Amino acid sequence: MKRILTGLQPTGCITLGNYIGAIKQMVEYQEKYESFIFVADMHAITVPQDPESLSFNIRNLIAIYLACGIDPKKNTIFIQSENLYHANVSWILECLTPYGELGRMTQFKDKSKKNKSFSAGLYTYPVLMASDILLYDVDYVPTGQDQKQHVELARNIAERVNKKYKENIFKIPEPLIGKHGAKIYDLVNPDKKMSKSSDNPKGVIYLMDDEKTIRKKIMSATTDSEMKVIYDPDNKPGISNLITIYSVLSNKTIKAVEKKFKDSNYGEFKRAVADLVVSVLIPIQEKYNKLIDSKKLDKILDDGRDKTSLMAFEKYDKLKKAVGLHR
Ligand code: TYM
Repeated sequence: MKRILTGLQPTGCITLGNYIGAIKQMVEYQEKYESFIFVADMHAITVPQDPESLSFNIRNLIAIYLACGIDPKKNTIFIQSENLYHANVSWILECLTPYGELGRMTQFKDKSKKNKSFSAGLYTYPVLMASDILLYDVDYVPTGQDQKQHVELARNIAERVNKKYKENIFKIPEPLIGKHGAKIYDLVNPDKKMSKSSDNPKGVIYLMDDEKTIRKKIMSATTDSEMKVIYDPDNKPGISNLITIYSVLSNKTIKAVEKKFKDSNYGEFKRAVADLVVSVLIPIQEKYNKLIDSKKLDKILDDGRDKTSLMAFEKYDKLKKAVGLHR
């Protein structure tokens, strides 16, 4: 059975973009792949975090995974920082990665531009992500479009290390990017990705938004003056984004969505999008409320930590020996 792995950062509130780009894909793939999903908490501290909120968000994200349909029987679920080998492997890989290669990462360029001072961790972050992936011999990494460059870096690192030490230490992973849902855009500025860290929450649907808020945000999404529900991302980014959301959440093709709404005005179409988003998110929220205080979460996380630590140790040991870090 092929193996997949993905992770999300426990920063702020999880968005509809995260759900569509990563979690929903995992729920579908768990039926046919051996699946690993984790909380990328060490990635979160590359930017300042309030300790109490971070700790809350870590547990929160596990409850969200389960509420969204990630099945603990079909997935290994764990917290990155509870498995010590991610950081250890990352250090070795950092020492094997040219400095300039990391400077080319678009996400680093964007995030470092936003702040005058930023941590060294923000720069080396993609190597930690490469370690997350390479530790487990995964075949595919399901993510949104924005993480593709990082998965490609993981491939480059793996190829370089295998070549340098003339040994197949790492499996070469492939990104698995869902077609249209690979990038969900901001509802107010549809030329920007829908992001947890957006300055304007009106453009972002959070998984925990209440029904009224979801409807309000969708009804006031930026569109255009043409009044035609047609998918044309270059000229009609706002309406195309809503079509994408509708298409992914209803499992209908873009063409089928265009056909369904060919006689609708934007108000009618937006109402249908809002109905659909509400029908997906409200049941997730109900499940989440039942799960958040459940002891079940701890058992799942303990099992995930133990299982992945054993697996990761083997890979770490192999790498260490290849590099010469042994007596
Ligand atoms: P993060 O936490 O920023 O995002 C989590 C996942 O959500 C996807 N995503 C989106 N997809 C579609 N439209 C959007 N607007 C949107 N916004 C976010 C992301 O592509 C991602 O799949 N570095 C990663 C976390 C990570 C990871 C890993 C992922 C750490 N190690 C190993 C895979 C494998 C990140 O910051 O994701």
